[in-house]
Amino acid sequence: MSFPATRMRRLRRTKALRDLVRETDLAPQHLIQPLFVVAGEAVRESVESMPGIDRFSINEVVAEATELQAAGIGAVILFGVPSEKDELASGAYDDEGVVQMAVRALKEAHPDLTVITDVCLCEYTSHGHCGFVRDGEVDNDITLELLAKTAISHADAGADVVAPSDMMDGRIGAVRHQLDEEGHANTPIIAYSAKFASAFYGPFREAAESTPEFGDRRGYQMDPANAREALREAQLDVEEGADMVMVKPALPYLDVIQRFRAEFDLPIAAYQVSGEYSMLKAAAANGWIDDRAAALESLTAIRRAGADVILTYYAKEAAGWLS
Ligand code: PBG
Repeated sequence: MSFPATRMRRLRRTKALRDLVRETDLAPQHLIQPLFVVAGEAVRESVESMPGIDRFSINEVVAEATELQAAGIGAVILFGVPSEKDELASGAYDDEGVVQMAVRALKEAHPDLTVITDVCLCEYTSHGHCGFVRDGEVDNDITLELLAKTAISHADAGADVVAPSDMMDGRIGAVRHQLDEEGHANTPIIAYSAKFASAFYGPFREAAESTPEFGDRRGYQMDPANAREALREAQLDVEEGADMVMVKPALPYLDVIQRFRAEFDLPIAAYQVSGEYSMLKAAAANGWIDDRAAALESLTAIRRAGADVILTYYAKEAAGWLS
């Protein structure tokens, strides 16, 4: 029965009624904080394009984790910014590399913090591509070996979860196989299944110093126009042993998150990327939008679309707002 019998506003009249019928919840335990780790000691330097985000040396990242846990954030994902880069991305699978050392320090100081590592080569290659370059192209199968080595060194250091973000074919299977071979059968994999070749990664590349020196990433990351292809990517990752599948970026790809939710019973992750964060911060700095309201609305929308967990630079701040 329609108006006047049905009045949708009845259940919107009071805050208590609105709280009662809210369909989507957003809580600190849904959020993962990305952290940039740099070499050196007592370093805490701000990332200009990402107001409120710092790059931390290892001792500082341990201190930051104390604050994150106090705020209710239970998981972090680490990105390394090494002091040296080369064509083989040696820093990525160096047992004394910046991420490996940060994982050890974090797990020692905060045993119940879930430490996830981003497994990719782009921060470690001299040319900034996500794999080994041969004849001007990223060679898929050689890259798989380097990625598997990287995942093993993270797991050896104590990482709770590894998250390959390179978009090579077969990487989930390669990483799963190697983890199982080398005593890490219990280490879960979050697959960056649908990682789009997005303009929204700009600020991250400043923070991680990972802008490709030539060309772009369209030869391995996905075309933003394709959603059916995203489902094929995720299907393959599930078959290869992924424990969670991710959509990245988040807000411009809510339809993909929703399709993942409908298609798969695995937990779904979404990555609210650097550009999404920087846009909100820049508009807020100009007084054009309310930072808190816009951030919480965006995060709620990502949850509503079907994400179980959200990787977001707002994690710590949002946890404060939500408590
Ligand atoms: C790299 C990686 C990227 C991001 C996460 N892992 C960047 C890229 O592909 O250039 C982007 C994250 C962000 O923008 O916040 N493997």
